[in-house]
Amino acid sequence: FDNKSRQYRYCSTMCVCHREIINTVLQRYSQTWKRQEQNYQKFRSQLSSKCHGFDKAIITQANIPVGSKLVYDGDRKRTLHVTPEIFRTFVKVHPFSNKTLDTCAVVGNGGILTNSSCGRTIDSAQFVIRCNLPPLQNGYEKHVGIKTDIVTANPSIFLEKYGALMGHRRPFVESLRSYGNSLLLIPAFSFGHNTPVSMRAVYTIEDFESPTQPIFFNPEYLRNLTIFWRSQGLREVRLSTGIIMTSLALEVCTNVHLYGFWPFSYHPRDLHVLTNHYYDDRKTKTKFHTMSAEFELLLQLHSKGVLRLHLGECQ
Ligand code: CDP
Repeated sequence: FDNKSRQYRYCSTMCVCHREIINTVLQRYSQTWKRQEQNYQKFRSQLSSKCHGFDKAIITQANIPVGSKLVYDGDRKRTLHVTPEIFRTFVKVHPFSNKTLDTCAVVGNGGILTNSSCGRTIDSAQFVIRCNLPPLQNGYEKHVGIKTDIVTANPSIFLEKYGALMGHRRPFVESLRSYGNSLLLIPAFSFGHNTPVSMRAVYTIEDFESPTQPIFFNPEYLRNLTIFWRSQGLREVRLSTGIIMTSLALEVCTNVHLYGFWPFSYHPRDLHVLTNHYYDDRKTKTKFHTMSAEFELLLQLHSKGVLRLHLGECQ
């Protein structure tokens, strides 16, 4: 064994291991999917009774009055006193409390969407949820669609891509154009350092009169959701955006379809190598998320007919 062949052996063992995992997943995935109303209702009522996403997921002027104390979900020792200035930025009415949505597409950012031709199918959903301001134009549209009703934005994006919104802010506003008049959902109260930059995002949207409507996650909802998924066996420090948005969709939509959820490096069809995202190969912070554990739970919900995962090509 010289060094070179040692490395090759190691690589081939990894491939076999991956192949086994993927084969097991595919065996479970490829059974004919059928919606199971009872399972859906049961899971949804468990989720609603613990998390109340239906009317508490988003901060509103009705559920968080001036003078309230918000407890950050990522740092429980930190609190924020809601001043009139912060209160003014809260949406008036909860976006879901008097709406029942029929079909929702939750679009994860997985490389499995590359060349999937799923754009039209995704756009045919009544309500489309996207994560972390993903690119939709320049050739992606055919595979991921363009319709957006909610898009999330992790404040780290404001810091890394838009200079913390301290300098020129127009590039940020221009990047929002592809999401039209969607809701921009920001976890502004998860960590203390996220709040000022999130407020700057809101002011930028106002100053440039962008049609995008910023809204904030209620930290209490995120905390309850973490406790809920822990009770389902998920022991991770922070939930991924994808599982948070899937949970919300399960409370507010009758039919939940997932696209772009595949945290593995190989395509399930022919095992070709995938990038982590459909638009780049930036790796997931495994310190926080254990995406394959989340995927296992989503696959269980797929098998039980509670939601439908899409791993293949569309059309
Ligand atoms: O911020 P976070 O790392 O959670 O998200 P992201 O990388 O922007 O991707 C959005 C979501 O898509 C993730 O939260 C995952 O749920 C899902 N995803 C996946 O299932 N497989 C991948 N290879 C990448 C993302």
